Amino acid sequence: AGHDGYKGRPMAVRFELLTTDPTGARAGILHTRRGSFKTPMFMPVATHAGFRHLAMEEVKEAGASILLANTYHLMLRPGAEVFKRFGGIHPFMQWDGGVLTDSGGFQIFSLPEDRLITEKGAHFRSFYDNSRQLLSPESSIAMQQAINSEIMMVLDVCIDSRTDEAGTREAMERTHRWAVRSLEAKAARDTGQAMFGIVQGGVFPHLRDESADFLTKLPFDGFAIGGLAVGETKVERESMTLRATASLPADKPRYLMGVGTPTDLVEAVLRGVDMFDCIIPTKMAQQGYAYTFSGLVRISRSVFRLSDEPLDAECDCYVCKRYTRGYLQHLMRGKHHLGSRFLSVHNVRHYQKLMGRIREGILGGTYAQVYRELKAAIATPKD
Ligand code: GUN
Ligand code: ZN
Repeated sequence: AGHDGYKGRPMAVRFELLTTDPTGARAGILHTRRGSFKTPMFMPVATHAGFRHLAMEEVKEAGASILLANTYHLMLRPGAEVFKRFGGIHPFMQWDGGVLTDSGGFQIFSLPEDRLITEKGAHFRSFYDNSRQLLSPESSIAMQQAINSEIMMVLDVCIDSRTDEAGTREAMERTHRWAVRSLEAKAARDTGQAMFGIVQGGVFPHLRDESADFLTKLPFDGFAIGGLAVGETKVERESMTLRATASLPADKPRYLMGVGTPTDLVEAVLRGVDMFDCIIPTKMAQQGYAYTFSGLVRISRSVFRLSDEPLDAECDCYVCKRYTRGYLQHLMRGKHHLGSRFLSVHNVRHYQKLMGRIREGILGGTYAQVYRELKAAIATPKD
């Protein structure tokens, strides 16, 4: 690992920027202690240290190398002591790739009414046993240290994008104070894990600038763009993404949180984003949708009942190699878990292949063309 010059400490992750395409799209490698991961990258979401319908072997086989897990869920169940006992999330869930933990900031935002958010942190009751809980910048970092992810996220204040300017500023300023406290908590007990700051600022361009300016003065290993896909329009989302990346340093990774559809990814890469996570590929699989390079397939449509075609003739996943659309339709119509599992395998593989095509385009200096081709092919009414 290299040195970032900050108090001479070795960096927990190192970002190697390989190319910036004429469009501004970037290809690189994120070096971590559990491997080197190609960017742009997509992280499937294993909220509870697992997938509803996928084994870790299947996720690995699909080409995913780094996963996202959620501090909020894991602090409630199974709790920090389980992770301490097992030596972290990797041996616990039998995953030897990378893990990024989200801080809980996004989950606080969608908690029920009886939460209380103060300067100290978010006070709420456990969904499981009604016990009192505090999620503060310090307790989030302590939990992420117990989980032992490669990349920790600061606890932030995520709000609805339709919040007015005063409310958005207030949330952003608290996010900044919490970012400083998160770094202090990490410095007090440095485990060698990386930490990313999160740019907030809603749909106000000058607040996005201010947030990026504040956070980039701090010794973070990378920067996320938060507070998007929470009620704004597609145009606002794309313009805020560009606004944020324009203020972020070229030599650190940029992560757009909770985004998105294939079209969203193609758009965000054009605006200089390197990392993504989203529940869409697995969630859509559970609802019977398969992504392909010629659009979204709703497998329950009656036209597929007698189809002996593969789910996606272009795909190399084991589902597409073996099973027909007719069989997959039968499984999904009968609400058989095997159907959700097969579509999840395919969608996770598809997202990895999408990132691969994007990356090849960037490395070849032809992302503008790849962007046009992908946009034309994959655009769906579900975007
Ligand atoms: N996931 C999607 N958006 C956000 C965000 O703004 N903050 C955090 N912590 N996680 C997210
Ligand atoms: Zn497939």
